[in-house]
Amino acid sequence: MTTQARSGRVLVIIPTYNELENLPLIVRRLRAAEPSAHVLVADDNSPDGTGKLADQLAEADDHVHVMHREGKQGLGAAYIAGFRWGLEHGYDVLVEMDADGSHPPEQLPDLLDRIEAGADLAIGSRYVAGGSSVNWPKRRQLLSKGANTYVALALNLHVKDSTAGFRAFRATTLEKIDLDDVDSQGYCFQVDLTMRAIRRGLRVDEVPITFVEREHGTSKMDQAIVVEALWRVTRWGVRYRTTQVSEQARRVADRSPRRGKVGSSPDSGNPDAPAG
Ligand code: GDD
Ligand code: MN
Repeated sequence: MTTQARSGRVLVIIPTYNELENLPLIVRRLRAAEPSAHVLVADDNSPDGTGKLADQLAEADDHVHVMHREGKQGLGAAYIAGFRWGLEHGYDVLVEMDADGSHPPEQLPDLLDRIEAGADLAIGSRYVAGGSSVNWPKRRQLLSKGANTYVALALNLHVKDSTAGFRAFRATTLEKIDLDDVDSQGYCFQVDLTMRAIRRGLRVDEVPITFVEREHGTSKMDQAIVVEALWRVTRWGVRYRTTQVSEQARRVADRSPRRGKVGSSPDSGNPDAPAG
């Protein structure tokens, strides 16, 4: 549980849309929990003035930075812009964290420890032993469990909480997963990045966290976000299965001893040969 002497520079990206009450609370907790980490607030021109407040926090603290974006473009787009900024500025570890207190900054050291232990991506998980959700409405819990089950079946990821939004990436992980062609906008962005890391053979670890429902403000989750997630995961799943089937067919064909001559030699009784 080392909170100082990190072996690399850490940037915590906090996307915000109308988080005026929450932002100062979360920044204070984060600065106390992991004092060497820098913070980047990625604000989508919040009508409630969160961006202006972020500027004030940045003025008072050289570890706090602000990115002002034109308008509400979704969580995924805000994170991608934040990752780019972090990579350009030479950070070694980039962290995703919500502004609303759902992701306890006091558990960030656990994620960073896991990166130092060799993980390429450390996911703060509600669904591994020791993880939990507190005060989450039943409706959201069901949606979250359902989404994770569907993702596991459709994409074969072996990750218990692939939609989780509290996570730490090595900079090299982000460089390997082609951020340029990520176009997920809403919360399926989380699934997209998990899938990309796994498909590239990177080490993805889950670390138990306690997800705590927000006390101030409101969730930005809406029906469009759910619909986007559903169609994208389904499309990725179909593509994944199609690739699996054609690879399997190629493997079977490669094992056939006399390709093109099946049936014309004594070997044709080989049980591994394709039936035709
Ligand atoms: N800049 C920006 N632009 N920030 C946004 C936007 C946007 O369009 N939409 C949401 N945010 C910010 C919020 O201000 C908050 O800091 C964070 O992203 C998470 O938004 P919430 O609206 O609080 O999300 P949630 O609690 O419904 O969902 C959480 O749990 C999901 C898993 O169940 C998030 O952590 C999701 O990432 C996660 O998939
Ligand atoms: Mn939230």
